[in-house]
Amino acid sequence: MKPNILVTRATFGEVIDKLRERFEVEDNQRDDTPWAGDELKRRLADKDGVLSTGSDRVDASILADAPRLKAVCNVAVGYNNIDLAACSELGILATNTPEVLDDTTADTTWALIMAAARRITEAERWLRAGNWIQGWKYDRLLGQDVHHATLGIVGMGRIGQAIARRAQGFSMRILYHNRRRATKAIEREAGAKYVTLEKLLKESDFVSLNLPYSKEAHHLIGARELSLMKPTAVIVNAARGGIIDDAALVQALKEKRIAAAGLDVFEGEPKFNPGFLELDNVALIPHIGSATRATRMKMNLLAVKNLSAALAGKRPPNLLNPEAWTKRRR
Ligand code: DGY
Repeated sequence: MKPNILVTRATFGEVIDKLRERFEVEDNQRDDTPWAGDELKRRLADKDGVLSTGSDRVDASILADAPRLKAVCNVAVGYNNIDLAACSELGILATNTPEVLDDTTADTTWALIMAAARRITEAERWLRAGNWIQGWKYDRLLGQDVHHATLGIVGMGRIGQAIARRAQGFSMRILYHNRRRATKAIEREAGAKYVTLEKLLKESDFVSLNLPYSKEAHHLIGARELSLMKPTAVIVNAARGGIIDDAALVQALKEKRIAAAGLDVFEGEPKFNPGFLELDNVALIPHIGSATRATRMKMNLLAVKNLSAALAGKRPPNLLNPEAWTKRRR
């Protein structure tokens, strides 16, 4: 008998084919409707494993009604959608997909830095609206220089480091803040100087948030923090919604207390603060940080590896809750 698994969202056909070699698969290939709450609970009730996305809320009540579930394998590096404590309590292994998306997410962060600094999305909207009647103009859509500016990276994990490496090509001064100071070797390679969050916010021309969401990171950037930033500064978030207080950011952008923002993630997405839509000084994209075919495929394949190991009784390579290993379900 093959183990039963659920794949919560439509994914690449090759991935489903690979899974079918080893598992009885319930997939969502036809409709790709997000399953939440009772619907997800019902579908997980007889499953041994699940390939989930960062948007599927796998909470304690869902886990409590999944007596056979042995592994929750996120196709994402972030895992704040999974109740890790409940998984550990029940002996369910949880995994994520680190590393394979670092460079792609760093590229997206840079796209946001450039778009917000040089008003790219605003300029395109302006052009498409038929405003380009008068020719070239000295002061049309003036933005901020990125080269030789100061970049402040909040969260110097692998993605933060990849962003810093790219910043060196722009001759930037690089500051960083992290819960724990990085090693000297990382600081040297990133060319980054450790500072307090307050100093980083005061001195940076560009602030990039690259930390995981947690209770402690909730609204790390609110009205007070935004008020510390330069009026010419740009803030970028390709990490997780909820790290910025979006209502406070809308207000700061509206009052031009900072120059601009670039956002890939939002509080409560796919809904988000409608105030952003009224502003020209924010570049908005819909959580596509890791969205290249190659990277999404690597993320899927790594999650399949994690799931296959877990359901074969082997320790998955990206186990998030090692405390669950000794009491894992068999
Ligand atoms: C991640 O990997 O965490 C991305 O945000 C996709 O969900």
